[in-house]
Amino acid sequence: MSTILVTTEIPAPGMDILRAAGDVEVRELDHEELFDACASGKYSVVVSQIRDRFDAELLAAASIVGVSNYAVGYDNIDIAAATAHGITVANTPGVLTDCTADIAMLLMLSTARRAVEADSFVRAGSFTGWKPELLLGSDVSGRVLGLAGFGRIARATARRALGFGMTVKFCPRPPGDRDVSEDELGEFAGRVEHASWDEIVTTSDFVSLHVPLSESTHHLVDAAALSAMKPSAILINTARGPVVDEAALVTALRNGVIAAAGLDVYEREPALEPGLAELPNTVLLPHVGSATVSVRSEMARLCATNAAAMFSGNPPPHPVNPQAWARS
Ligand code: DGY
Repeated sequence: MSTILVTTEIPAPGMDILRAAGDVEVRELDHEELFDACASGKYSVVVSQIRDRFDAELLAAASIVGVSNYAVGYDNIDIAAATAHGITVANTPGVLTDCTADIAMLLMLSTARRAVEADSFVRAGSFTGWKPELLLGSDVSGRVLGLAGFGRIARATARRALGFGMTVKFCPRPPGDRDVSEDELGEFAGRVEHASWDEIVTTSDFVSLHVPLSESTHHLVDAAALSAMKPSAILINTARGPVVDEAALVTALRNGVIAAAGLDVYEREPALEPGLAELPNTVLLPHVGSATVSVRSEMARLCATNAAAMFSGNPPPHPVNPQAWARS
């Protein structure tokens, strides 16, 4: 009898949905153990986390029919290889859009207004009274926000930024470009400006990253992009760490090439680039873009429903590679 493998327990109602569908085993596995488990014939569906790497070799050896990733992102899975081997991958789209855009906004506000420095200042007992030049930051309203990407989370960030009186530019597929129809622009027609990646980099006061990690977005923000930014620019990353060359970022922040960075994700997560944590002009969060009680619960519901469907021989409601189902 086949089993659902869960690499980390997911919040309610996820585990109940999974247990109602069939036998469930929770095992935290390193890569080699995950490889062996997927090849063992014991499991037909894996409920995975973004730290679980499903590379081409693992997928070729695997006897599973599906992977239900507890995330909207799926750069931990080689989708082409999964499809080639008839392994369906499912994710949790839609439910974490607003909360991740909130974190992008929080990082913009807290870097510009030096919130973390200010909080430490008060806690250290250094606040001796209002002063005209105490902890001066930079404005958010009236400034230019350049968005890398124009998917769900970028648009939710644009909505918030427009509410703050910012000018919003976006490049839909950096470092290249693509057409964006009036239909796709929808509510944003006439309110945001389609720009090249070069223009985003050189003219924005805030550059916020909202692209999936792929070969073309790996190190999208490298030393060259950083030095093309305004010295007053602030970089925000709520997407994936390797979109930024973190060593180049530390150098740029140290040398005043850009003013500050607000990061929720890291290139070698959970490790930080040496020097990053010592820089006062950074706000560093531990990948909490989707971390609200209701969102994590909704992600768990979608993830478990995807897994339960595949386990019962049905296509998942949120497939990344629906064509794989026909091949399984
Ligand atoms: C996602 O869902 O992709 C978030 O980064 C959290 O995993």
